[in-house]
Amino acid sequence: MDKLIIRGGIKLRGTVKISGAKNAALPLLAATLLTDEKCVIKNVPTLTDVDTMIKILIELGKRVAKSGDVVTVESGDDRKCRAPYELISTMRGSICVLGPLAAKRKKAEVSFPGGCVIGPRPIDLHLKGLQDIGVDIKIKSGYIIAGGKKIKGSRVYLGGHFGSSVLATANVLMAATLAKGKTAIENAACEPEIVDLAVFLKKMGAKIRGEASHRIEVSGVRRLHGCTHRLIPDRIEAGTYMLAAAITKGDVFLRNAACDSLLALIDKLKESGLSVERQRNGIRVKYTKPLKPLDVTTLPYPGFPTDLQAQMMALMTVTKGISVITEKIYPERFIHASELGRMGASIVLERPSAIIKGIKKLSSAPVMASDLRASTALVLAGLAAKGTTEISRIYHLDRGYENLEAKLRALGADIKRVK
Ligand code: EPU
Repeated sequence: MDKLIIRGGIKLRGTVKISGAKNAALPLLAATLLTDEKCVIKNVPTLTDVDTMIKILIELGKRVAKSGDVVTVESGDDRKCRAPYELISTMRGSICVLGPLAAKRKKAEVSFPGGCVIGPRPIDLHLKGLQDIGVDIKIKSGYIIAGGKKIKGSRVYLGGHFGSSVLATANVLMAATLAKGKTAIENAACEPEIVDLAVFLKKMGAKIRGEASHRIEVSGVRRLHGCTHRLIPDRIEAGTYMLAAAITKGDVFLRNAACDSLLALIDKLKESGLSVERQRNGIRVKYTKPLKPLDVTTLPYPGFPTDLQAQMMALMTVTKGISVITEKIYPERFIHASELGRMGASIVLERPSAIIKGIKKLSSAPVMASDLRASTALVLAGLAAKGTTEISRIYHLDRGYENLEAKLRALGADIKRVK
C-alpha cells in the first residue's frame, strides 16, 4: 500500500487550479441513465470515485469514454438494471443510480452503498422519498429492489434527524423528472452540487423550479434528451487548499474557486484573521498575522460544510487559544482527532463537539488515514509539522482529490508518495 511522506514547515506559495466537483460528478453521471441520448460532461476530475461510477454505468449497459476531463456517455444495453455489491459498496455516491434506474428502466436492483467510515449512513430518506412518488421498494439479500411502473408526482418531505439529505434529494429529483405529474420536494438539500444537477437535468429537458431552495418543484416529462454540461468547481477541494495555505502561513491563489459556495468557510477564516480576497477567476488566501481560535458548527449548506471539518480541526490544533468544533451532520466524524493527537495536538472530544487547545507546533509521527477528508486533515497537519510525517492508507485521497501531491508540490510542499 502507498504512503505519503511529507517534510513539514514549508510555506505554500503560488497558484493552484481547482478541479471539477466530485460530489457533482457522481449524481450527474448517474443522471445520464435518464436518457438514451448522448451526454457529454466536462471538467470531470480524475478520481477513483469517478472511475467507480463509470464502471457502474458500464455495468448498467452504458457506453462510456473518458478523455482528459471530458466524459461521454452513450446508450448501449438498457435492459440492465443490477448495480452489484462489488462496485456499489465502495462508495456512497453510487446510490444515485437508484432513482434514475427506477424512473427510466422501471426496475432497479441496487446493492446497499458503502463509503467513508464517518458514522452511520442510513438510506431511509432515499427509500421513503422514492416510495412517496410511487416507487415500489423491497429489500432482498442486501439489495434494494425497486419497481418504477407506478411513479407519480407527489409531495415529498425529506428531512431527517440531521436535516436535509443531499443524495436523497438527488435521487428523488432525478426520479421525479420522468414521473407523471408534479412533485414538490420539501426540506430539499440546496447544496451547490444539487443545483448543478438541476441545471444538468434542465438541459436534458426536465422541468424544475426552486433548486437552491428547500422546496424543489418538478413537473414530470415523458422523456429527456442528451446534453453537454461543464461541472462546477469543487468547493471542498478549494476549501482544503485555503486551509492548507492558512496552516502553512502561506499565500495561495485558488484559480477557478467559486467564492459564493464557500461563504461559511471564508467568514470563519476572516474571523480568525486570515486575509481572504475574491479576485477575478478565483480566491487569494494570505496569512498575514497569527490566527485566532474559532467556534465552528457544521450544518447543511449554506452552513459550514462537514467535509471541511477535519481540515479546519487541523488548522485549529496550531492556532493559539481554545477552539470548539461541533459536528451536526455526522456526530461521530472525529476519527482524525486521535491521529492528530499522535502529532501532539490537544483535542478533547465531547461529542458532537471537539475542544481543541492550540499548540505552537505539531510534531511528525506515523499516522493512518481513516476516510477521505480525515486524510487531508493529516496531510495539512504534516505540511505544518516539524519533521517528516508518514501517512499510510492514503487510497482514500485518490477517491476525492485530483493530483493532490502534484498540486501541493507546485505550491512548494515537500511531499512524495512511496510504495
Ligand atoms: N441521513 C439519514 N437518512 C438518509 C440519508 C442521510 O438519516 O437516508 C443522514 C446522514 O446520516 C447524515 C445526514 O443525514 O447524518 C446528511 O447526510 P446526506 O444524506 O446529506 O449525505 P450524503 O448525501 O450521503 C453527501 C456527500 C458527503 C457529504 C454529505 C453532507 C456525496 C457523494 N457525498 O453525502 O460527502 O459529507 O453529503 O454534505 O455527495 C465526502 O465527499 O467526503 C462526503 C462524505
